[in-house]
Amino acid sequence: KKIIITIDGYSSCGKSTLARQLAEQLDYLYIDSGAMYRAITLYFIQQRVDWADHVQVKNALENIHLQFVYNQISGRNEMYLNEENVEQLIREMLVAEKVSEVAAIREVREFAVAQQQKMGLQKGIVMDGRDIGTVVFPHAELKIFMTADPAVRVERRFKELYEKNKNITLHEVKENLELRDYIDANREVSPLRKADDAIILDNSQLSIEEQLELVKQWVEDAVLE
Ligand code: C5P
Repeated sequence: KKIIITIDGYSSCGKSTLARQLAEQLDYLYIDSGAMYRAITLYFIQQRVDWADHVQVKNALENIHLQFVYNQISGRNEMYLNEENVEQLIREMLVAEKVSEVAAIREVREFAVAQQQKMGLQKGIVMDGRDIGTVVFPHAELKIFMTADPAVRVERRFKELYEKNKNITLHEVKENLELRDYIDANREVSPLRKADDAIILDNSQLSIEEQLELVKQWVEDAVLE
């Protein structure tokens, strides 16, 4: 039996690392919901959409086509915005700086959530984000809420970004994570919070291997239930 697994939590807790590994080992589909909000944000920036204006937002969303396309070489699903591969672009600071603002807009969330729910029609899915266990799949069989020490999270994200851009500073990364977490947890529409029936996973002290073993056990239990 295949189930729906949701992973929510603050920025840079390692949600995508866990989700990707689980999907690989269980032969599930991994969907990075954050990539969708990032792609929408990229489009708004590129097209100079004034996202304070709801009419502009609505019109812009009508022109956005999002798609995950499997890349044979990397073995990963990559984000396509209007048939263009934006996987690299959406990870840049320019997008990270604005994404939480854009993701707080009601119309943007309705647009993204509708597509995420459609993907969930096929069982055997791991989706990570901020509202997956609370809003997108409230009936998911296994819900995980990830947390980690803020200092550990800043360090992890900094390492990841520094590999691609040597100009990035620790300070900049810290400010961005704090700002996103604040906006994500305090917005009006589906704020980041733990679902009542989610299991908390604090991985500050866990290795990636330990974490995976632990969660695989949870999956086994959830499948048997
Ligand atoms: O997961 P990631 O850090 O790539 O997500 C980028 C941003 O997208 C988050 O900071 C949050 O503002 C938004 N997001 C969201 N709901 C989700 C996934 C991401 O609001 N389900």
